[in-house]
Amino acid sequence: MKKITLPYQSRLNHPSFTFGVATSSFQIEGDIAGREPCIWDSFCQQPNAIKDGSNGNVACDHIHRWQEDVELISELGVDAYRFSIAWGRVIKANGEINRSGLNFYIKLVEALAERGIQSHITLYHWDLPQYLEDQGGWLNRATAYRFADYARVIADALGHQVSSIATLNEPFCSAYLGYEAGIHAPGPQAGDASRRKQGRQAAHHLLLAHGLALQALRDSFADGKAPALGVVLNFSPCHPLTSQQADRDAAEFAHQYHNLWYLQPMLSGTYPDVIEQLAVTDRPQINAGDMAIINQPLDFLGVNYYTRTVFKANQQHGFSDVPASGDGLTTMGWEVYAKGLTEILLTLDRQYDNLPPIYITENGIATADSCNKGEVDDVMRIDYFQSHLLAVHDAINHGVDIRGYFAWSLMDNFEWAEGYTQRFGIIYVDYNTQQRTFKNSAKALQKLFLARQSQH
Ligand code: NOJ
Repeated sequence: MKKITLPYQSRLNHPSFTFGVATSSFQIEGDIAGREPCIWDSFCQQPNAIKDGSNGNVACDHIHRWQEDVELISELGVDAYRFSIAWGRVIKANGEINRSGLNFYIKLVEALAERGIQSHITLYHWDLPQYLEDQGGWLNRATAYRFADYARVIADALGHQVSSIATLNEPFCSAYLGYEAGIHAPGPQAGDASRRKQGRQAAHHLLLAHGLALQALRDSFADGKAPALGVVLNFSPCHPLTSQQADRDAAEFAHQYHNLWYLQPMLSGTYPDVIEQLAVTDRPQINAGDMAIINQPLDFLGVNYYTRTVFKANQQHGFSDVPASGDGLTTMGWEVYAKGLTEILLTLDRQYDNLPPIYITENGIATADSCNKGEVDDVMRIDYFQSHLLAVHDAINHGVDIRGYFAWSLMDNFEWAEGYTQRFGIIYVDYNTQQRTFKNSAKALQKLFLARQSQH
């Protein structure tokens, strides 16, 4: 079996560097009876929305199997586990707290702590309660204020037991894929506003939600030790298809529109310049004071990285993306491009002088795995982790402050519009039996993690 190795004296070997695995609530939990329905439950019911017609009703049945899953996490030898809280499992439609839902997460965090595993939680990984969607969802400014109320509840119940709290996971996906492209929940919306306007408005309200929640969290921890507070964003280097100026402009447009649209308001209280190139009717409504609310100090930035993206000129939209082609693509059709991780980290580091410390909060690959006599030979995933860990090492050597790395994902799970057709896990899940099997990549990572532990 292939190994994963780190360069001698790499910063990644230092005991203070955090290694973990990650999941999210809707993708693994199941048990919809125990929570309010969310926008993904509704989206899954729309014809052809999900590739295999599946839903999150059972997923990995984690709500019933969480103790077994905690044992698996512990066996892996990780320092940390990143997971998200389902908003609708904690706050009921009438605004009351769902005690049994909240207790689930309290017990989970306790069980992890007993095994010496840090909890890194995300408040919003795309599962907006349907009762909020019914009032306009992220197109309604009021949703941002409800999010801050929910953040306060989590801070009080869990805040002192967890190592970090991220407000949002990949708001790009919620706003762009959910509203503009319409391929994620909630999907295309009615109304006169253009898709672009809806996407930009949803993004603005998500950013506002982030700022208001950070204010609420700082306030909750004013008198004591606080977990690290931050956000998780996805980044992909944007490359032009050709060296022609029009394609180069398209790639720069996409970089600002996809990568910087969320980060820059948080770090500088301004939208990237590309906002000026949008039709006035496509720009978001920004109220006085909003940008200052969004511009809160961050203790960390979570970076999710999978691949790079290639763009070409498009008169109407400013850019269009060119799907990857050739050999060696993942089953998602994504190119394996490890040096893009170093590149984007250096780009951000050079662009912003107040960039907070970084955690790689997701990195991984979907492959065509099968389990034969208890063995899953996912050598492509081992190679992927190897090359991307070296990319992190390179970025650190170039001066970027990176504190941790989380593999996506602990186990195969519901991959959004792709349903269960894509396997991102380091643990294989047989959805008929819910049996979990360590893939060879899990064993390779486990070896690396246990070797690190024995050195310290
Ligand atoms: C990012 C998302 O946060 C996660 O939910 C998803 O499964 C992975 N990307 C893979 O697409």
